Amino acid sequence: MTSCILSIDQGTTSTRTILFNREGQVVGLAQEEFPQHFPGSGWVEHNVDDIWQSTLRTARQALTNAGKTIHDIAALSITNQRETAIVWDRHTGEPIHNAIVWQDRRTSDYCQQLRRAGHTETIQAKTGLLIDPYFSASKVHWLLENVEGARERAERGELLFGTVDSYLIWKLTGGRQHRTDATNASRTCLFNIHEQCWDSELLELFGIPESMMPEVMDCSAEFGKTDAQLLGASVLIAGVAGDQQAALVGQACFEPGMVKSTYGTGCFMIMNTGDKAELSKNKLLTTVGYRINGKVTYAMEGSIFVAGATVQWMRDGLKLFQDASETETLARKTGVGHGVYLVPAFTGLGAPHWDPQARGAIFGLTRSTGIAEIVAAGLQSVCYQTRDLQECMNADTSAPTETLRVDGGMVSNNWVMQFLADILNVRVDRPYILETTALGSAYLAGLQIGWYDSLHDITSLWNCERSFSPRMSEEERDSLYTGWLEAVDRVRSGDT
Ligand code: G3P
Repeated sequence: MTSCILSIDQGTTSTRTILFNREGQVVGLAQEEFPQHFPGSGWVEHNVDDIWQSTLRTARQALTNAGKTIHDIAALSITNQRETAIVWDRHTGEPIHNAIVWQDRRTSDYCQQLRRAGHTETIQAKTGLLIDPYFSASKVHWLLENVEGARERAERGELLFGTVDSYLIWKLTGGRQHRTDATNASRTCLFNIHEQCWDSELLELFGIPESMMPEVMDCSAEFGKTDAQLLGASVLIAGVAGDQQAALVGQACFEPGMVKSTYGTGCFMIMNTGDKAELSKNKLLTTVGYRINGKVTYAMEGSIFVAGATVQWMRDGLKLFQDASETETLARKTGVGHGVYLVPAFTGLGAPHWDPQARGAIFGLTRSTGIAEIVAAGLQSVCYQTRDLQECMNADTSAPTETLRVDGGMVSNNWVMQFLADILNVRVDRPYILETTALGSAYLAGLQIGWYDSLHDITSLWNCERSFSPRMSEEERDSLYTGWLEAVDRVRSGDT
């Protein structure tokens, strides 16, 4: 009896595998955190084998935890941290280097050169993106320039490039398929989002041979069958999307104008813009929301690099508390107007500043500042950054956001959600299922295998658990946000 979709969610700090039934309910789950490597200032790497082994282990464990076997699995889906670049040998499967993670800033100078050489406009017009170390292209360029012999091997056609989805598809299919989906492709800075193909001019600009690139598929497609030895039988990989786009699907944001914000390691606010690839005038990104049956739905995205990672840093770096669940009580003690601002620019600032050289700071410390104030400021920084994105989105689109659908680990904190509603002055809707990234890719697989006939079927599965309505005065909202803008100004490098 095939009853579940096995959804792999390979994120920045952990790998999770979740089994969903046809109603979109969680049937079983397994999660593993894995080490982060920081070999230089602003550098972030992952061991590629950690990515693979944690995927395999959590997939097996999730089956066990759910009391299922591989024969209960109708299809497999993948969602993943985006932009992270992996290059490996097509014959041996050996990665040539650690994965360079999306947060990594090592290519700041190279990106600055490209901006100064006047490539910004062409790149934005073709890819919807800006020139920033965030995207995969400059990372692949770095690998080819800096790993001994890599350029020659790439020119000889021996090396393959992939984002994490693509690497996992390749590994899961026993090296038979080198494929990705249109959402992940749209984050590389090498993909023409209008023509839906790799752009030869950009490949040349970044010095990347086309033979390294994976085949780009719809999000619901036959990506390949898994090697039977890995999980006990062969299963079709039927749904793939980058995690933030998968969350757009999991949140059933299928109408133009609908917006979701996901609070994982970073925070990513995405608005469905329908069949129009609208270019932002306010430094947001234009990206592929999803591609189904060859039809592209575009989205506008604001990307904040550090959200949940602030909580992790306060817990593991500063040791201010032992468990993230304590932050709500701590923040309630001090309220919102304590005067402390924490700007978590640990890996520079993303949208709308795009300042890779900026670094974090805490302002407004007095003798009465304690753990509660710093923790509250850390939590509030995530909401203030969301407001920065909202300001840009409202300026870029004619209709201001009225409600925001939220998901990700941090949104279980009611204090944060109320402050978010207050500072944005919009209603914040939290669904029952917060695992929307994994759920979204499972829905995409479900569409492919006929579990769902259309997106309409998925819409009817979305349920709101709690809404948070704004209740702060305009005066307080403006004064708090002005303080934030001043704090951000003080950490900017002026080099953007
Ligand atoms: O663009 C980076 C994003 O995909 C990472 O997501 O959930 O690992 O913070 P997450």
